[in-house]
Amino acid sequence: MKVFKGLLSIAVAASMSFAADYVIKFSHVVSPNTPKGKAADYFAKRVAELSHGKIKVEVYPNAQLCGDKVVLRKMKFNAVQMAAPSFSKFTGLVPQLALFDLPFLFNDDNHLHKVLDGEVGQKLLNMVNKKGYVALAYWDNGFKQLTDSKRPLIKPEDAKGLKFRVMSSKVLIEQFKALGAIPVVLPFSEVYSALQQGVVDGQENTISNIYTKKFYEVQKYMTISNHGYLGYMVVVSKKFWNKLPADMKKVVKQAMKEATEKERVWAKELNDSQFAKIKAYADKTGKLQIIKLTKEQRQAWVKKLRSIYPKFYGMIGKDLIEKAIKAGE
Ligand code: LMR
Repeated sequence: MKVFKGLLSIAVAASMSFAADYVIKFSHVVSPNTPKGKAADYFAKRVAELSHGKIKVEVYPNAQLCGDKVVLRKMKFNAVQMAAPSFSKFTGLVPQLALFDLPFLFNDDNHLHKVLDGEVGQKLLNMVNKKGYVALAYWDNGFKQLTDSKRPLIKPEDAKGLKFRVMSSKVLIEQFKALGAIPVVLPFSEVYSALQQGVVDGQENTISNIYTKKFYEVQKYMTISNHGYLGYMVVVSKKFWNKLPADMKKVVKQAMKEATEKERVWAKELNDSQFAKIKAYADKTGKLQIIKLTKEQRQAWVKKLRSIYPKFYGMIGKDLIEKAIKAGE
């Protein structure tokens, strides 16, 4: 009986893996226990259910398959079918997406979602669609915080002379230059060791990335600055999409709609619960100081960093920036 059951499960597993007519390799760089990681897994599950096994989504987290820069290239020739890089990673392709990197642009989540779900968001999706991808959705992560190992960052001048890892984005580079700091572009998979070895002194990221990649264990200070937003555009290889029959496209779109709704909730939940975990570590070990800025202190960062906007009127478009600001009024 045991042998029979064993054979049966092998046969079922084999028939399932052979049954898929389409395989989607979904590559991302973060941990599975993040908003993007959870949503990618949920999307895979829903696609399998809705397509009755005809489409199999294989999720590769933690840059197992490749980093974000490479993935956008691979998708062009359908070597990878899906990814959800952060906006900053698209800016080499569609510079206007650097809009989201502008420091202190959004008042809160509501303001941000108005922009993503409105005219500006649609415009940017269309721009990416023209570049050999099919843009399916926006996924949230959250607002970025500053961490470093040298001194508490309370005033903008405190960042002077420090090296910060940044994603590849002209706005992010300029942001740290405005502080008199030294930006260093590095892929996400190299951040932990760069911090640990002192190649850079600090970095900016969301709570979920700081927590799941343990950046807080190799940093001494974390300033709750909420200075910039980190979000994602979920894209499919156009080559792959064009070969997908209409009924299967419908399935993918439906699963994406469901995953996107859940993703927004997870982003908020994980931001809160993982912050509590970092705080518990800080309280327990005394190895991390968490700095909450007063209104006046934060205002000094706002003033300093918003001063870079005019430099990007040409690249992003003054009208786009103004529309995004107006959505929050
Ligand atoms: C980063 O490189 O810091 C982020 O883009 C990682 C991610 O995908 O959240």
